Amino acid sequence: MLVSAKEMLDKAKAGHYAVGQFNINNLEWTKAILQTAQELNSPVILGVSEGAGKYMCGYTTVVGMVNGMIKELGITVPVALHLDHGSYDHCYKCIEAGFSSVMFDGSHYPIEENVAKTKELVAAAHEKGISIEAEVGSIGGEEDGVVGAGECADPNECKAIADLGIDFLAAGIGNIHGKYPENWQGLSFETLDAIQQLTGDMPLVLHGGTGIPADMIKKAISLGVAKINVNTECQLAFAAATREYIEAGKDQQGKGFDPRKLLAPGAEAIKATVKEKMELFGSVNKA
Ligand code: 13P
Repeated sequence: MLVSAKEMLDKAKAGHYAVGQFNINNLEWTKAILQTAQELNSPVILGVSEGAGKYMCGYTTVVGMVNGMIKELGITVPVALHLDHGSYDHCYKCIEAGFSSVMFDGSHYPIEENVAKTKELVAAAHEKGISIEAEVGSIGGEEDGVVGAGECADPNECKAIADLGIDFLAAGIGNIHGKYPENWQGLSFETLDAIQQLTGDMPLVLHGGTGIPADMIKKAISLGVAKINVNTECQLAFAAATREYIEAGKDQQGKGFDPRKLLAPGAEAIKATVKEKMELFGSVNKA
């Protein structure tokens, strides 16, 4: 059964570890992530961007696939199905479709409008027992075609949004989606510390988990980060393993590649990436 991400993240914040959000794109990725979470006895959050939701044939299809896998694979660890960087309209669509968690990314609105829309969505999500994440300060890099500059959030604005009753808060602290550039300044721990001082027990979310050095991840967790999002690293691992398989020329004499065999190395590569992250984030055996 899908669960809201609130309880698992409150526990993570209190226990000084983080739960990974891994973005899904198809059946193979979803299965690989769920199997790894079960094997490591770790809670997990499956992230779905609006683009990935469209690709997978809509949110109700995603809900059906994930619920089916939880049943068929005998998954007993807590699993949250979470809309990643949702617009106002898509938050409602996911609440209706059976997601157990949504992120409303109102970071591009003026703060007053972000506050008003977040407040409304908090009520709609909580009425159905669904958890909700909000964002303050844009996260750099590209996400579904939207390019953000990677600013640091204003801690007072974070406090204003946290007080609206959201369950966890994403705050820009110099993090970027995708690979980090050579001249990246690193995470602003000063900003993170100031945000945590003002928001207290609120679990904080670190987007752009790909490529952040392990020591920075650990320091961020020690300053209140309880959820870390990873996408690009799974994509890179999947692509490299698939390319290697094709280049090895393992097709079936004139019949092309067996699609199930073709996608298997990529799925194994995702499992290895997810395992490494769960170990680093400290969520193993925390189910
Ligand atoms: P990366 O693609 O950098 O891992 O970031 C993922 C993310 O933050 C999704 O919201």
